[in-house]
Amino acid sequence: MAIFSNIKKQILNSKKTILVNDLGSGSRILKTNKREISKIGKIAGISKKKAAILIRLVDYFKPSNILEIGTSVGLSTSAIKIGNDKSNITTLEGCLETSKIAENLFKEQKFNNIHIITGDFKDTIKKAIKEKQFDFIYFDGNHTKKDTLKYFKDCLFTIKNESIWVFDDIYLNQEMKQAWSEIKKHPKVRVTVDIFHWGIVFFKKGQAKEHFKIRV
Ligand SMILES: C[S@@+](CC[C@H](N)C(=O)[O-])C[C@H]1O[C@@H](n2cnc3c(N)ncnc32)[C@H](O)[C@@H]1O
Repeated sequence: MAIFSNIKKQILNSKKTILVNDLGSGSRILKTNKREISKIGKIAGISKKKAAILIRLVDYFKPSNILEIGTSVGLSTSAIKIGNDKSNITTLEGCLETSKIAENLFKEQKFNNIHIITGDFKDTIKKAIKEKQFDFIYFDGNHTKKDTLKYFKDCLFTIKNESIWVFDDIYLNQEMKQAWSEIKKHPKVRVTVDIFHWGIVFFKKGQAKEHFKIRV
């Protein structure tokens, strides 16, 4: 966790500004395209509490091929890498300048086997899942109902018994609550764990359909 705290501190102390190309629903807080890295890290980046859970989750399940939808400046990617340094991570980001910041961070930290694909999720998700089989997917891109369900459906044909999917911010707004409720109902989904910050989905065939709520 100390490594993550240092990375987060470094981002929060950055004095750099970039021009952001926002392909998502846009920041609810940051209104201009000229943005400070420190603000992006503070507002869009994973919190220390969630990072600690992500590190433990990845350390416990040890998925080897991971897809992250929504890199931003690379904070959650770093948490995943810290959780399992042997993992191969493909991470998707729409904004070139933002993804460059993440790429530099991974180089500085000597995090290997992280492949950033830059472009609109509507193209990059299809490209990523065609190239590789993922056992863990972290959905932290565009927090609208329509897009969340689209990404869910796009990735569905890749599922295996061991697949684990994590949806960020399932209570962010009404749309995300509705998206989460639809995901839970999907016939391929067996077990879900709602930890409030995230909805975690398991697909193991033969497992009774069950939904758990845990406060962490
Ligand atoms: C919430 S941030 C990701 C935060 C990161 N996972 C973390 O916790 O450190 C979401 C990212 O998705 C990107 N994004 C949103 N919609 C997109 C789209 N349609 N195509 C590509 N990137 C998109 C944004 O540029 C933003 O950087």
